[in-house]
Amino acid sequence: MRYAPLPAAASPLPQQLSVLGFGGAPLMGRVGRKASLAALDAAFAAGITLFDTARSYGYGESEGILGEFLAGRRDQVVLCTKFGILPADRGGWKRKLKPVAQAAIGVFPQLRQLARRGATGQLVPRQFTPQVLQASLETSLRALRTDFIDLLLVHDADPSVLSNQGLLDALQALKARGIIRMAGVSGGPELLSAVVAARPPVLSAVQFPMDPSRLHLAELTTRPEARGLLLLANHPFGGADGVAALQQRIRSLAQQPQLPAALREKLAGDPSTLMPEIVFGAILAGTHIASVIAAMTSLGNLRRNVDAIERCRFSPEELQLLRAELAVPPGGPPTAAPAPSA
Ligand SMILES: NC(=O)c1ccc[n+]([C@@H]2O[C@H](COP(=O)([O-])OP(=O)(O)OC[C@H]3O[C@@H](n4cnc5c(N)ncnc54)[C@H](OP(=O)(O)O)[C@@H]3O)[C@@H](O)[C@H]2O)c1
Repeated sequence: MRYAPLPAAASPLPQQLSVLGFGGAPLMGRVGRKASLAALDAAFAAGITLFDTARSYGYGESEGILGEFLAGRRDQVVLCTKFGILPADRGGWKRKLKPVAQAAIGVFPQLRQLARRGATGQLVPRQFTPQVLQASLETSLRALRTDFIDLLLVHDADPSVLSNQGLLDALQALKARGIIRMAGVSGGPELLSAVVAARPPVLSAVQFPMDPSRLHLAELTTRPEARGLLLLANHPFGGADGVAALQQRIRSLAQQPQLPAALREKLAGDPSTLMPEIVFGAILAGTHIASVIAAMTSLGNLRRNVDAIERCRFSPEELQLLRAELAVPPGGPPTAAPAPSA
């Protein structure tokens, strides 16, 4: 496994931070208990130290399974969780049907999208008050069987969070008491730009999606103002729905005459091993992103992703070229709207 050189902002982290992070969104949601524990075990054995979860993941049970797995290993990992989206419907019918849904997805993967819609329909987003923070954190600590969180993020935040002084003060107080080591935000490109432009001192980490359609964010992460932040990229393949399209894109890149012949030759390999190498490489090459967080509950995917981080066959220059290619949508750059006639 490779470990990240950490920015000064991450100095409260006592453990090494793996460049590949384990995404806990599917735990106890899309996959059941046995597969969740098997994936966590395999990730830890491969040297992954960053484990990402949230109060809302897995119908509120992702943290619990992670806590169970962490018993006796807590001091060897960097634990990231989030608050601000409440898992609702705790005893509800959708939750009771979860084992049936998990089994059905195992047989018919195309049902995933439907299940996801059902699960997200129950969430209560944007709960960013100090009271929710306190209650959510207490539940997280219990579920994770720990007395501190390495990295606590405001989940799916918008830029208005950066001026929510009550919340920022509450996060500062939790830091001062050692209950959280670092505080930060997770959200989209708009939030990333806003944090890079002006970050409140208590927020020293940001997690943001960086699938191929958002590879242009690489530039933002290299700005001097971003240096003080711990930058974590998530959603690298664009989720389950993005994988097939991405493999197809990589196949078509091998035919692009504008790319150097040596690079095209490398691109003619097996797309299932090339995809994680290219995606992780394009996210990390020359940027200040410390880790990429991927969901990988299938052991084959986990292995391919670990191998991709450990042995990338592309040079940094080739990865930057591929990043530029992938950042352009498949049909070419969007055409500008015609100028209104005077
Ligand atoms: N707002 C937020 O804070 C936020 C938002 C989005 C995501 N996240 C975090 O980031 C994590 C990852 O995001 P994501 O799940 O949306 O997207 P993702 O990691 O881009 O995609 C995950 C999907 O890709 C598959 N996969 C993984 N490695 C693969 C490989 N080498 N080849 C083929 N398929 C592969 C996984 O399958 P298997 O699981 O079957 O292996 C899963 O279906 C989440 O779990 C969560 O921890 C946070």
